Amino acid sequence: MTNTTDNWTKSSWHNFTALQQPNWPDETKLNEILATIASLPPLVFAGEIRDLKAGLAKAVKGEAFLLQGGDCSEEFSRCTAPNIRDTLKVLLQMAVTLTYAGGKPVVKVGRIAGQYAKPRSSDTEMVNGVELPSYRGDMANAVQPDLESRIPDPRRLLQGYNMSAATLNLLRAFTRGGFGALHKVQAWNQEFVKQSPMGRSYERLAKQISQALAFMETIGIDTDAPQLKQAQFFTSHEALFLGYEESLTREDSMDGGWYDCSGHMLWIGDRTRQIDGAHVEFLRGVLNPLGMKVGPKHDIDDILAIIERLNPENEAGRMTLIARFGAHDIEKYLPPLLRAVKKEGMNVLWSCDPMHANIRKTEGGHKTRSFDDILSELRCFFELHWAEGTVPGGVHFELTGDDVTECTGGARQLADEQLGRNYLTTCDPRLNAEQSLEMAFQIAEMIRN
Ligand code: PEP
Ligand code: CO
Repeated sequence: MTNTTDNWTKSSWHNFTALQQPNWPDETKLNEILATIASLPPLVFAGEIRDLKAGLAKAVKGEAFLLQGGDCSEEFSRCTAPNIRDTLKVLLQMAVTLTYAGGKPVVKVGRIAGQYAKPRSSDTEMVNGVELPSYRGDMANAVQPDLESRIPDPRRLLQGYNMSAATLNLLRAFTRGGFGALHKVQAWNQEFVKQSPMGRSYERLAKQISQALAFMETIGIDTDAPQLKQAQFFTSHEALFLGYEESLTREDSMDGGWYDCSGHMLWIGDRTRQIDGAHVEFLRGVLNPLGMKVGPKHDIDDILAIIERLNPENEAGRMTLIARFGAHDIEKYLPPLLRAVKKEGMNVLWSCDPMHANIRKTEGGHKTRSFDDILSELRCFFELHWAEGTVPGGVHFELTGDDVTECTGGARQLADEQLGRNYLTTCDPRLNAEQSLEMAFQIAEMIRN
């Protein structure tokens, strides 16, 4: 497919207002770094991006289900093999649970290999009485609360490119090289999860799959098929720092279209989706599947106009609307939006982010989310879709394979006072591996309906 977008170039966003960009102190240095990145190889390939779009198009019709998840904010210091492997493990576990118990093929998309840029509600923050520039993700500045660390440094963009490349390299090795094979379904269960009720439910499910595979082998069916031997796994991040995204935007020699090769799927945040803004301008011209976050502060006509701008040909798989209204507000905001999009006949994949509008602060000062609020928003999401006759096609989580204590609740009833035990996130609280798996079993029940 060629680009039909008029007056678009990968640089045309410069003529629009770009919110949430770091205040880079040295523009010459920034441009030098961006030119270097532009000369380096793409991180992902157009053919893979097209495969993802085809998978998402199935999810629009309810023939597949999107599972998107990973860190709120990846960190350079945590770009290690165990970390990447553990995040992959939990996503593979969740996916196989949704596939086997829920009966739907799952499109797996990580918030990984590029999720290094964060939008913030304010340019500065007060730390111990000192006003500092806000942390905007490792690709802009460092989280340490001192002035020097917080000054944006463009060399971090190049570091982000390199870290993304290293992460992707390992993900590709794991998913293509046997670790993602269905034969390994039991090995994805982590030691600290195995002992939990969820871990045991998962063990049972994994055993059934292994027995089914063994049976197929016994009767002579070839289980070397790529569907069994490899996992298809895609990457995504918020397309926030537009200079970086531009530098990885390349023209595909096969179809002549432009693809942002920094990740397979890109999303536009709730804070940067202005129809006359630079983010919408940039994204309208690249052919990647796009997500758009929609929170309580939105105008329905505005959302319809943005969808029209980003997906004028109404291509299925191009647009995923990621609703994040909160457990208390979803009933108020989702149904009118569902009706409006349906009335326009827009091909949209509906996904639920039950994380971002369910944040609260504990008395001890931890930013947290409760398992029950997250689950309650998810349940409402499904029920509201069933009531409207629309398709609840995906979910979007902040999670990690680590044994962190950042969200309360779940099978172990993690309490506010226990959050300090292993609270690691530099941004939003994530579900740990066990809570994530528990969520997957709950969702499986819902999609089987
Ligand atoms: C996020 O996904 O980390 C995020 C900042 O989301 P939102 O744009 O929905 O606030
Ligand atoms: Co977040």
